[in-house]
Amino acid sequence: MVVKKEIITKIKRNIPNHILQLLYTAGELADSLNVKIFMVGGSVRDLLLSQYISDLDLVVEGDGIQFAYALAKELKGILKRVHRRFGTAVVMTVDGLRVDVASARTEFYEHPGALPNVKFSSLKQDLFRRDFTINALAVKINRRDFGVLLDFFNGLEDIKNKKIRILHNSSFVDDPIRIFRAIRFEQRFGFTIEKQTEELLKLAVIDGFIKRLSSQRIIAELMHILEEPKPEECFNRLLKLNIFEQISPLLVWNEQFYDYFIKARESFKYLSSELNVPQISFKQLYLQIWLFKMDYQSIEKIGKMFGLSNKEIDRIGSLNSRLNYAIRKLTVSSYLPNSQIYAELSQFSFIEQIILFSIADKKEILLSRLKVYYDKFVHLKPNLNGNDLIGLGFKPGPLLGKCLVELKKNKLDDKLTSREEEIRFALEFLSQNKDGA
Ligand code: CTP
Repeated sequence: MVVKKEIITKIKRNIPNHILQLLYTAGELADSLNVKIFMVGGSVRDLLLSQYISDLDLVVEGDGIQFAYALAKELKGILKRVHRRFGTAVVMTVDGLRVDVASARTEFYEHPGALPNVKFSSLKQDLFRRDFTINALAVKINRRDFGVLLDFFNGLEDIKNKKIRILHNSSFVDDPIRIFRAIRFEQRFGFTIEKQTEELLKLAVIDGFIKRLSSQRIIAELMHILEEPKPEECFNRLLKLNIFEQISPLLVWNEQFYDYFIKARESFKYLSSELNVPQISFKQLYLQIWLFKMDYQSIEKIGKMFGLSNKEIDRIGSLNSRLNYAIRKLTVSSYLPNSQIYAELSQFSFIEQIILFSIADKKEILLSRLKVYYDKFVHLKPNLNGNDLIGLGFKPGPLLGKCLVELKKNKLDDKLTSREEEIRFALEFLSQNKDGA
C-alpha cells in the first residue's frame, strides 16, 4: 500500500483545481449520504503515471444513481445516461467535465461477448471484474480518508514495472475488446503485455473470440486507437497478432500505411509551426490516410463501417487523383498566378492539404505556396459582397457565387484594384451570363 500522503500530493499536483474541488465536494456529499466513494479506473492510473486527468470515474459502495442525482444537484450540472440495470449515470458539470458515477458491482457473463448480468457488490469485487491491474486501483475520496490508495491486485507494482496484466484468466474471453485495449495501453504508455497475459490474449485471438464482438464495438475501439499518440504502432501489433484478418478482409494494414501515418503527423507538426492553420482531428486525418489509397469499393465499405457520410466517401474516393493533379501543378518551379495557387489549394480541407504535403516530393515549393495561401489569400476579400452584387442586379443563386469567385481570382492577380473596377467587372459578368441570372 502507498502511504496516503504521497497520493494526496500527486492528486494536488496532477489534477486541475476545478476537478480537485469536485472531488472534495463529492467526498463531502458521500459523507452526508453515508456511503463510501472512490475515484477508480483510468483516472487513478493516469494520476499515478503523472498524466493529466480530463475525466473522472467514481464508484460508490451503495446507490450510485442516488448519489449521481445528488451530485448533479450540488454541482448544478446535468444528469445523463442513467442505467438502473447497471447502477450507472453520468454527471456533466457546468464546465463540461464528464463524471461517470457507478455503484460498485460485479458482472457475470452468460456467454463470451454477451452483455453482463449485474449484481451490486463491494469495491473489491467491482475492481476485480475490470480489465487490467493498472486499471483496478482506487483512491478513496470521503473527507476523512481522502487520498487513501486501495491496491488489491498489485496495480501499483505493475505501473512501476510497466506491465499490462489481466486480473483473471477468463478476462479476454469475458470481454474480447480487452485484446484491443491491452495493445492500446501498451503502446500509449510504452508498457509491455505481461507474458501470461499475452499468451491468453493470443489464445483468445486464435480461438476466434474477436468474431463474437459486434462490429460497432470493434469500430469504436479502432476509433479510440486512431486517437492515440501513435496509432500506427497499435496497428502494427494488431497485424502481427493476426487480428485484422478477424475483423474484415477489407481492412488492410501494411508498412506503407505505417509510413503514411508518421509522415502525416510530422507534416501536421511542421505546417502548424510554419503557418497560421486551424487545429485538426487526428482521428479524421489518419482515417482519411488509411482510406484514400484504397479502391473505391473498399473506401465505400470501410467508410460506411466508420460512419462516414456518402459525401465524405465520395471526397475520399476522388482524393488520390485530385491530390496527384494538384501536386503536379503546385510544385512547378516556374511562376504560377496567385489565382491558380488559390484555386488548387482551396479545393482541399486542411486535413487534405496535410496529406498533400506529406506525399509531395518538392516540399519547399509547396510550403512557400501554402504560406502565401494562409498568410494572404484566405483573408483577401473582394470589395463587393453578395448584397452589393444583388444591388447591381444579380439574383441570389449560383451565378452570384461564381461572380464572387471571379472577383476574388482577379483581385488575387491584381487585375482588379478598386471598387469601381470590381463594379465594372461584375456588370460585364452579369451581361455576359444573363441567361443564367
Ligand atoms: N474497463 C474494463 N473492461 C473494458 C472496458 C473498461 O474493465 N472492456 C474498466 C477499466 O477499469 C477502465 C474503466 O473501465 O479503467 C473505464 O474504461 P474507459 O473509460 O474505457 O477506459 P480508461 O481506462 O479510462 O482509458 P482511456 O484513457 O482510454 O479512456
